[in-house]
Amino acid sequence: MAHTPVLLANAEVKDEYLVAGMRMLKNGAHAGDVAEFVARAVEDDPEEHTVGYGGFPNVLGEVELDASFMDGTTLQAGAVAALKGFRHPISIAREVMRRLPHVMLVGEGAARFAREIGAEPREMLSPEARRAWEEQVAAMMGEAPDTIALTWHVWRRTRGHDTMNVIVRDVHGNLCTAVSTSGIAWKYPGRVGDSPLIGAGNYCDSRYGAATCMGLGEAAMRIAAAAQVVTLLRLGWSLVAAGVEVTRQMAALLGRSRAEQPMRVADWVRVLIMDAQGNVGAFATRADLCYKVLTAEAETPITQRAMCVSKD
Ligand code: GLY
Repeated sequence: MAHTPVLLANAEVKDEYLVAGMRMLKNGAHAGDVAEFVARAVEDDPEEHTVGYGGFPNVLGEVELDASFMDGTTLQAGAVAALKGFRHPISIAREVMRRLPHVMLVGEGAARFAREIGAEPREMLSPEARRAWEEQVAAMMGEAPDTIALTWHVWRRTRGHDTMNVIVRDVHGNLCTAVSTSGIAWKYPGRVGDSPLIGAGNYCDSRYGAATCMGLGEAAMRIAAAAQVVTLLRLGWSLVAAGVEVTRQMAALLGRSRAEQPMRVADWVRVLIMDAQGNVGAFATRADLCYKVLTAEAETPITQRAMCVSKD
C-alpha cells in the first residue's frame, strides 16, 4: 500500500530544499536519502548560523559540529559530535551507522573516521561567523582569567541555537530523521548538545512516530525528550498530548539551573513530531516559533506556529 509522503522541518529550512525533497519522495526515494539531502543543503547554507558552514563557533573560535541520523524502520542510528573541519556532518553520521558497529563518534575519532571514508574536508568558519566571534567574544578574552570565565561572560549574549531538524515519511511508510547543528554559539570547547544524542534530540520509530528537538539542548538531554515522545505515542497517547507533556517537562527545567538562568535569547525549546500516519505537530516554550510541513498534494510548504506550552 502506498503511503502519503510528508516532510516536516523547522521553519528556518528554506522552502526550496523541502520542495526538492518532496520531488525525490514522489519519485520513490527512501526517507533516509531525503532527510540526508535536506540536511546537507542546510549545512551548506552560509546564512544559517547554527548549522554547518557559517555556524557560529565555540568560545575559542572553532566550529564544532553535532549531527545524528535515525532510520525508524531498522532502528539503526549514527551520530557525530564535536566534529571539526568537514563539510557534511550528517552524511558522516549516517556512515557511522552503516560502516561501524557503533552509534556515535566524537572529536578526533569522528574526524579520523571522516578522513578514512573520504568525507570532504572544509574550513567551516565563514568570514561572517569569524567577524561575529571576533566582535562578541575575542574582544572579551582579555577580561576573563580562563575559558570557564569567558564562557560565562559571553553566555548572556549567546545568539541562540536553531539547529536543523527534518522528519521524513516516504511512500513506503518509512520514517527517518536528521538533525544537524553547530550547537550553542560561543559554547565551551567540547560542549555537546542534544542534537547528536539518540533519544534526546532525535528519535524515530516507523511503527509509532518520530521526534526531534531544537533550542536549549541541555533541557532536552535532561529528560530524554525525543525518546519520551515516541514512547508516549507507543503507549497510545495522542500526538498533541505527547507533545504537550514533554514540552511542559522541558519548560519546567528552563531558567532553573545556574547554567540556564542568564539565558535571555536562547532560553527556549521546540519539539517537532510526526506520527506513523504522517500527522504532524510542533510544541514550543515560546509563542513565536514556527515549523514547516510539506505534503504530496501541496506545491510549497505551509508554515505553522508551534503550540506554545508553559510549565503549568
Ligand atoms: N539544540 C541544539 C543544541 O543545544 O546544541
